[in-house]
Amino acid sequence: MKNIEISPSIISSNLLELGNQIKQCQVAGAESFHLDIMDGHFVNNITMGPDLVSAIRRATGLRLDCHLMIERPDKYYKSFIEAGGNVLLVHYETPIEVGNFLKKLGDENIRYGIVINPDTDIKKVYKFVPTSEIVLVMSVYPGFSGQKFIDKSLDKVRELRKFIDENYYNTKIEIDGGINAETGKLAREAGADILVSASYIFGNNIENSIKKLKSL
Ligand code: DX5
Ligand code: ZN
Repeated sequence: MKNIEISPSIISSNLLELGNQIKQCQVAGAESFHLDIMDGHFVNNITMGPDLVSAIRRATGLRLDCHLMIERPDKYYKSFIEAGGNVLLVHYETPIEVGNFLKKLGDENIRYGIVINPDTDIKKVYKFVPTSEIVLVMSVYPGFSGQKFIDKSLDKVRELRKFIDENYYNTKIEIDGGINAETGKLAREAGADILVSASYIFGNNIENSIKKLKSL
């Protein structure tokens, strides 16, 4: 099986130790970082804004994926790019005209991925797959780290894997929520290319857990 990419979600890191923890992730083999941006409207939680993204940018050269769990990505996206974000992960469920917004990002040469919630049919995002760098399948309801993995998300990953392979697209499949050594293995077998993990990595020994996820 091909190499799996690990994308630590810093939502569960120790913010007072963030610089060190980012280094530990890199040493262990993380290939990118996942930044959960929540506005208290799209989800029932508030997390980070562009200032923290730019602090993280100064601490690492790795790709920074901004998972936008906000109602108005069209209003705020530029500040996350200016802060050093590399890929914007935009929810299909966002209450704006998502197709138009993704087209605008493409016109501005901004890299993006499309995100799909647990209850949304995977076929709804098929039309966005050819132009998206990533399809992020949520395996928990967005808002909080530390939730239980939703098993049925594996069926979505399998279906999407088939669709991408049959059409020779380069789009990567990423999965986010409740990933640990056990669920990460199932996701990988189902066809995921990138595993996001917050509590499993930062709630345990960082190096060991990343190495474990990479070796599944
Ligand atoms: C949930 C976030 C996830 C979350 C993952 O809204 O999008 O990225 O932080 O946390 P764990 O890995 O603990 O489920
Ligand atoms: Zn996320």
